Amino acid sequence: MQSTLTRLVLAFCNGSSTLQYLGSLTSVILLLSALLYKLLHVPVASPPRSGHSLPRLQLPGWKVTQLFFEKRFDFIKDGFKTTSSSIYQTSLFRHTAIVLSGNEGRKIFFKEKGLGLHDTFSIMMGSGAAQFDPHQVGGVVRRMASIQRSDNLQKLIPLILSECQRKMDAWGSEYILDPCSSLHEVTFQLVMRIASFDIANDPVLSARLKSLVDTIDSITNPYSTWLPWLPGPALFCKFFTSVQVYRIVQEAINTRKKSGIKRDDMLQQMIDDGDGTIQIFGCILGLSLAGSLTWLIMQISSDPTWSSNVQDEIRAFISTHTPSSASLSGNTLAQALSEIPLTAWESQTPNLDLCIRETLRTSQPYTAVRKNHGPDLTIGPYVIPSGSLVIYPFSDTALNPNYYPDPTRWDPSRGIEKETPFIGWGAGKHACKGQRLATLSMKLVVVYAMMRFDITMVDGQGKRINRLPLPEWNDSATCRPKEECGIKFVAK
Ligand code: HEM
Repeated sequence: MQSTLTRLVLAFCNGSSTLQYLGSLTSVILLLSALLYKLLHVPVASPPRSGHSLPRLQLPGWKVTQLFFEKRFDFIKDGFKTTSSSIYQTSLFRHTAIVLSGNEGRKIFFKEKGLGLHDTFSIMMGSGAAQFDPHQVGGVVRRMASIQRSDNLQKLIPLILSECQRKMDAWGSEYILDPCSSLHEVTFQLVMRIASFDIANDPVLSARLKSLVDTIDSITNPYSTWLPWLPGPALFCKFFTSVQVYRIVQEAINTRKKSGIKRDDMLQQMIDDGDGTIQIFGCILGLSLAGSLTWLIMQISSDPTWSSNVQDEIRAFISTHTPSSASLSGNTLAQALSEIPLTAWESQTPNLDLCIRETLRTSQPYTAVRKNHGPDLTIGPYVIPSGSLVIYPFSDTALNPNYYPDPTRWDPSRGIEKETPFIGWGAGKHACKGQRLATLSMKLVVVYAMMRFDITMVDGQGKRINRLPLPEWNDSATCRPKEECGIKFVAK
């Protein structure tokens, strides 16, 4: 079926009307077969092998899948309430899924070797990832280690700062950013600047790529995963869009190779190291900073104490490393910050480090999923069957009042207490591999913006507010604010 599908996709890309017709016909036939299959074969989640039977969330599979995508945070939280249990069983993407919480749940989730991350991508992404090769993910992970070597990160500093300058020059003396959309454009552009100089320098291409990536993200929904083997319209669209993104990346690689010009970007590092298009494509799409950076700027600027702590720290930091910080602005600011060594950025801004840590705790609605490809596991009196999916919501630690009293309050001083569990970058074998790059990028943007502008939060009408809206934890991609608001930048 896959080869037929591939041919149809290629035909679709080439715009052949006959094959488009055949594609529709195939879809209709497969849809009918799918319905028949569903009528005749109702899968049941495998019962626990031994021990007590796990409390079960009684919802149809399609409803669980829909809620998992649309209201993940509420769905998981309500599941604990409905089953009155800290661990429960449900059915997700036609797999038995065990949702864990509590100290023991977290420890098992991050420590058990049999719980793997990579093959959950193909389950979660639907048939668009049917040919997903976990070894290529391994390649991306290894690549991250090389990209984050100190010499490479040092080279990225001036690149990121010049992108900040270019973007912020365009804001003039006063600008209000919509945290729900404009800041995502800024971070996308920043990511592109790190990834590929040529794509970032071409505003039309960069805008097209952003819209394609947004389309791929938006298609990861129940209708593309519930019947993963059914090539419906969403699947065609996802393939078609991915092919276009892949072509843009391939074109960028070819142009760079032909030009003989060397740039200080991720693309160059990967070409020099002999990586294939798929690895480069994966790394470029994996760079994601949008949600965390947005909340970091919003939280610091709406907390007078921490805003002044961070500003004092930045001024002292700059004056230690540059001869005259008083008159720095625009170009001279970017230039001066570029000359500060990486080691200083990484070790001499403790207040900013605390702010980043607290922002990841309060504004990151991540829910981690693994597949148990080891033997059955036990947790208390229950069994986690081999082959099942295992889910751990980060909020179980991050928003837990036992660890963090008044958990939604943003208070960076909590980070001084190192004993409290913190999983903002994940934990164990699959902890974030881009942490160094992500932290450095966030620091550069915040420092540059805070030195150039007075930043305040405003409501939908542009009126100053002192209290931030809560994050929408159900928005699992970027965790947007729950209410309309803006970030106001006024040039100093
Ligand atoms: C503020 C930004 C970021 C945050 C908060 C973040 C957070 C995380 C978390 C929580 C995980 C663990 C996922 C799990 O346990 O299921 C993770 C994994 C990962 N992150 Fe990040 N990340 C960020 C930025 C980045 C960037 C910029 C890159 C790469 C350029 C990156 C690359 C990765 C990779 C490759 C993994 C998978 C590791 C593995 O499978 O072993 N991350 N990240």
